[in-house]
Amino acid sequence: MKVDVVLGLQWGDEGKGKVVDVLTPGYEVVARFQGGPNAGHTLEFNNEKYILRSIPSGIFQGDKVNVIGNGVVLDPALFKAEAEALAQSGHDLTERLYISKKAHLILPTHRLLDAAYEAAKGDKKVGTTGKGIGPAYTDKISRTGIRVGDILNDFDTKYAQAKARHEQILKSLNFSYDLADAEKEWMEGIEYLKKFNLIDSENFINGLLKQEKSILCEGAQGTMLDIDFGSYPFVTSSNTVCAGACTGLGIAPNKIGRVMGIFKAYCTRVGSGPFPTELFDETGNALCELGHEFGSVTGRRRRCGWLDLVALKYSVMINGVTSLIMMKADVMNTFDTLKVAVAYKINGETVREFPYEIGNDVEPVYKEFKGWKCDINRIRSYDEFPAELKNYIEFIEQECGVPVKIVSVGPDREATIVR
Ligand code: GDP
Ligand code: IMO
Ligand code: MG
Repeated sequence: MKVDVVLGLQWGDEGKGKVVDVLTPGYEVVARFQGGPNAGHTLEFNNEKYILRSIPSGIFQGDKVNVIGNGVVLDPALFKAEAEALAQSGHDLTERLYISKKAHLILPTHRLLDAAYEAAKGDKKVGTTGKGIGPAYTDKISRTGIRVGDILNDFDTKYAQAKARHEQILKSLNFSYDLADAEKEWMEGIEYLKKFNLIDSENFINGLLKQEKSILCEGAQGTMLDIDFGSYPFVTSSNTVCAGACTGLGIAPNKIGRVMGIFKAYCTRVGSGPFPTELFDETGNALCELGHEFGSVTGRRRRCGWLDLVALKYSVMINGVTSLIMMKADVMNTFDTLKVAVAYKINGETVREFPYEIGNDVEPVYKEFKGWKCDINRIRSYDEFPAELKNYIEFIEQECGVPVKIVSVGPDREATIVR
């Protein structure tokens, strides 16, 4: 049995939550492998809307097993708030959510450090989600982190040591703060965590695989935010790419099956960093307004631009994508023309491979497409798509060398076409 992976190919917010929810009936297990509450995964069905941050998007489709893997960083306070809100709306998770003891904890002081480092960077700031992601992963890599399993054993000492270390850094940065409320909430979160199945998730997952159970891995963020392959240093602090599913769950590379890469029919980015196809005009505003492009976690306005095939092809390569999933084409229903970047011009030279660095001198080379100029939101089969949309999709398939197997035409679970 192999494990399938769903992940983002752009700068996050591609629609991973929706797609995982749609695909979950075909699987017995859904597992998150990296990231933390920097994620905001939106699901809509039966006129209800949910935004998940740390909890996998497989929780609304029957009694599926959901796993938070070792590659995730978990904030107990935010986790408690998220899980309690779900329990209140009739989705109790204590019996069917399994959390890796090897997942690292985000401490209240990690959040403070995130804010302090960003403030110190001034106009070079990353524009993080402020959830303490970078500092928590820094501690993990520095071998000074605290893991979920540690809450069961000599936790107070470990916490006090980490806190003291963080407070020293905050002091050196002259960062003033008040920790009392956040710390109290966080400690309540720690107690709350103990109600859940805290496990060695790598053994659990491999045991399930032996029993021929089908597993879907849910990525967070997107390939262009990957710590190794994204637009460094304007990235997140984890491996968002397919390989992250191996290290973030303990799955051997030869157990990876289908790799489903999600992209929006255009591009968005939230936070700082290069974005070659970004639009600063009316079209950019239209994408933002019509696509409701405001961060689901921070509410920040997302930067918008045309689809970037140079970046998309790079993502397809890095992840070994076997099929593509295209989201939000409906946002461009009224557009007369659409553009797609097929190359970059850098210092007068045409570049088709994603370059080491993207500076201000990168100019996208566009191919123009005729818009479909009709409402596609209620269409439920590929054959009914207007010819212009089919043409757009087929060009992307041809360029990427991978088929587009799912097209999403609205936020609702139902607004999904599987080819
Ligand atoms: P994720 O982080 O990848 O799960 O994506 P987000 O939830 O942050 O952002 C995607 C947004 O687009 C959410 O508000 C979704 O409800 C919405 N959405 C998803 N698919 C579609 C679609 O096909 N069309 C439209 N108009 N909205 C969509
Ligand atoms: P989902 O899973 C979009 C961005 C932040 C910032 C950078 C680093 O919903 O797609 P961090 O807090 O991770 O240190 O921030 O990464 N970022 C996201 N952008 N969607 C996300 O998650 C993101 N998670 C982080 O805006 O630029
Ligand atoms: Mg999101």
